Amino acid sequence: MMSGSKKTVLAYSGGLDTSVMIAWLKEKHDLDVVAVLVDAGRASGLEDLRKKALSIGAVESYVVDAKDEFAHDFVLPAVAANALYEERYPLVSALSRPLISKILVEVAHKSGAASVAHGCTAKGNDQVRFDLGIRSLDPSLEILAPAREWGMTREQSMEYAAARGIPVPLKKESPFSVDENLWGRAVECGPLEDPRVEPPEDAFEVTMDPADAPDEPEHVEITFDAGEPVALDGREMPLLNLVSQMDILAGSHGYGRVDMVENRLVGIKSREVYEVPGALALITAHRELEDLTLPRELSHFKRGLEQKFADMTYYGGWYDPLMDAIRAFMAETQKRVSGTVVLKFYKGSCSMVGRTSPHSLYDVNLATYSSGDAFSHEAAKGFCELWGLPLEVWARKG
Ligand code: ARG
Repeated sequence: MMSGSKKTVLAYSGGLDTSVMIAWLKEKHDLDVVAVLVDAGRASGLEDLRKKALSIGAVESYVVDAKDEFAHDFVLPAVAANALYEERYPLVSALSRPLISKILVEVAHKSGAASVAHGCTAKGNDQVRFDLGIRSLDPSLEILAPAREWGMTREQSMEYAAARGIPVPLKKESPFSVDENLWGRAVECGPLEDPRVEPPEDAFEVTMDPADAPDEPEHVEITFDAGEPVALDGREMPLLNLVSQMDILAGSHGYGRVDMVENRLVGIKSREVYEVPGALALITAHRELEDLTLPRELSHFKRGLEQKFADMTYYGGWYDPLMDAIRAFMAETQKRVSGTVVLKFYKGSCSMVGRTSPHSLYDVNLATYSSGDAFSHEAAKGFCELWGLPLEVWARKG
């Protein structure tokens, strides 16, 4: 560690583990903790948590409002890439970790800390994302992950906290481990660990039980400008508000629940429940608009890179040079992805029911089977002859 510095910057959540960490880092490593709470959306009570860190012994404590940065620099590229890990998970936590890493590194530089700390355990993906993110941005910073080393069970953490006057959760706590931000909620643990068991209703907060959703369908028109969603039903609004409104609207119709067994990077299969109505609706609409505006080969090639984008993000590679190149590719593809898409929500479903674009490549005169057909039927015969020539040559030799 850099001589003279005894500070460490901790990604503080306000929960039991990172609260205990403030005391533990002092006792075990003689480090003064600078606590940082990052607001990437859907957070509440942050000012109280900022004070809580100070009351436990943090020497400095900050709330960083990173909602806009998260929306523009992380969510937007994920929309451009229609990013879904294993075709279903819109990367809620995986997208926020590189942003939090960046903020930790910035605070470390400002406060003269030579190390940063996070609260991740050894079993998850998030530790990988923090470790790789931080090392990509400043390899000279030491990374501390107390929960990976201390070997305390939840009960032992409670005892540790109680013995030091650290507030422990009083009310019966939720059995779930939840991570949430603008792009959605990830819910794990408790009864969800048995993949045979249907998730109980209290695992969900932003989505209605589809059975109780309204009996009337609701349509919403989403306008995109060069890949960016900019308006709902013709009302322009900042990306942050648009994503939140989309989330509420889609969730109120019971859309956006994902229940999957996911392959973690660390080799474990885990049962994950996500609430991601806004994310899934926007990706659905965006993909439809791409089908209308991107030419065939670009579209097919892009689908392959989209999967790479999702995997790299999931695996903690946000700051990998390959990701810079993939993001540049994605941005290039978005120039003509402008227009509107109408989605229809009804009792847990979201269907795309109409799309239009000034850059539409759909030409009714080419597609029609009625009058006005402009397609060259004569050219088709020769096209088929030459396209099939290699197959014919092969078959004649058989
Ligand atoms: N399985 C998801 C992922 O790897 C969600 C992780 C949620 N994190 C958490 N600390 N509960 O991205």
